[in-house]
Amino acid sequence: MTKILVTFFIFLIIISSSRVSRSQQVQTFHFHKDTTDINPNGSSELSVLMRKMYDHAVAARKDVMIKKLENTFPKEFLSIYTAKPTDSLTKNPSFNPFADGYIQSLNTFIASSQNDLVQNYNGIVNACISCHSQHCPGPVPKMKKLLIVSSTK
Ligand code: HEC
Repeated sequence: MTKILVTFFIFLIIISSSRVSRSQQVQTFHFHKDTTDINPNGSSELSVLMRKMYDHAVAARKDVMIKKLENTFPKEFLSIYTAKPTDSLTKNPSFNPFADGYIQSLNTFIASSQNDLVQNYNGIVNACISCHSQHCPGPVPKMKKLLIVSSTK
């Protein structure tokens, strides 16, 4: 009798664990399915990072508009140096100095005083624009829209 019970419980455990893994598979599947990639050939690490940097700049712009000081530096942005681009030739010797400029502008922005917030925010966007003018001019008009044009100066 105990043998039958034990077998039954083992059976139950197997059934339930296989059910869990099946539902996990379904979730993973949905995750992939829902992530619509704008690039049909798949996106490079650098492209994915750039979209996060873009979203960060948009969020920072909103914060600056309500004069909210930002105090976080998204550490993953440091992977700008190592992230693989779509085309390996994109990262020529002038890439890293531009990346340095961007990281520096983020640091300045985070340490910004209330008075310099707009200027330091624009510093980030200008760092995007500088690198892009050289390496990937396509999104530059879109970036220029991120600049905050101060009416007082
Ligand atoms: C050091 C150079 C550099 C800096 C700084 C830089 N970018 Fe980029 N960006 C690139 C390169 C190179 C690509 C092309 C990536 C590829 O094709 O793999 C790119 C691609 C992009 C893309 C297109 C991504 C896609 O969907 O394929 C956007 C949007 C973008 N950058 C926005 C920004 C914004 C916003 C900033 C500033 C917050 C910024 N970039 C700063 C070099 C830079």
